[in-house]
Amino acid sequence: MSHGSEAVLLCEVGPRDGLQNESRIVSVDDKVRFIELLVAAGLREIEVTSFVSPKWVPQLADAEAVLSRIPRSDSVCFSALVPNEKGLERALRCGVRKVSVFTAASEGFARKNINATIAESITRFAPVVAHAHAAGAVVRGYVSCIVACPFDGAIAPHAVREVCAQLIDIGVDELDLGDTIGVAHADDIARVLDACATLRPVSELVLHLHDTHHRALACAQRALALGVRRFDASAAGIGGCPYAPGASGNVATEKLSDLCVAEGYSTSIDRIALDAAARFIIGALSTARGPE
Ligand code: HMG
Ligand code: MG
Repeated sequence: MSHGSEAVLLCEVGPRDGLQNESRIVSVDDKVRFIELLVAAGLREIEVTSFVSPKWVPQLADAEAVLSRIPRSDSVCFSALVPNEKGLERALRCGVRKVSVFTAASEGFARKNINATIAESITRFAPVVAHAHAAGAVVRGYVSCIVACPFDGAIAPHAVREVCAQLIDIGVDELDLGDTIGVAHADDIARVLDACATLRPVSELVLHLHDTHHRALACAQRALALGVRRFDASAAGIGGCPYAPGASGNVATEKLSDLCVAEGYSTSIDRIALDAAARFIIGALSTARGPE
């Protein structure tokens, strides 16, 4: 941990983005232990699960069981994905205080991932955001495929901006930009940030990088230089999206934390404890139940 320098917030998405794409289903006990180890490693925001249809993502069908067993703490935000009102109701019943709606800058991915057009997704999310706020919850809005889509190909920065603007219109508190299939080069990230910078300060945007082609760190380095101070990452670099063919894991939290420190920023992370969390989840995956 470094002190006295500008802070970067790393949001750990391993328990959600990581485990949603593993063919093996990790037990509730091991998910809870993984989350406890992440808390011990200093992560202050952890996306712990999704309240999506269990038919679409069976790996996270145990969302309620996981949430009921995580020791709550005022210093750690436990967030979860919600695709619709049903998901929000489930999340709120579990005491979740930050939820994420998720759409895309490409029609092809929106259709495959949430069975909706982009416009339908915004219409679907508007009451979700309003009800979340009425219940006192904070809302993140993900935009996937900010550079390219596995179905539609290259995505223009203005298309990303347009979806971000619509999410802001319905009231999301935080925008999260996802390079879902990990194809971005640093210049692509710079163009997307430039397009979105008139909507929200770059320091408030979240960047969600997958590391398919091992360029995520170069993208993060450029993003840091351009003012991004919030990133998603997953311990041990696990995961991907089951509805994005070719997507591999998120950038590893260990590597991203090291990059931030090397670039002169502070994070809240204890690296030795983070390694323990990463080792634990790799071990848990190796012994988890296989696909049925
Ligand atoms: P649908 O089939 O169009 O929805 O799915 P539906 O409303 O017709 O419901 C179908 C069934 O699911 C019904 O059950 C519903 O009750 C049930 P049945 O009557 O057939 O028994 N259902 C639910 N059950 C529990 N919780 C819910 C829920 N909603 C419906 N919330 C839907 C539409 C959006 C539900 C579906 O497409 C879905 O769940 N999609 C989620 C896919 C997903 O989780 N993808 C991965 C996360 S996104 C990602 O990884 C990208 C990201 O990391 C950023 C990046 O990398 O770019 C965030
Ligand atoms: Mg992702």
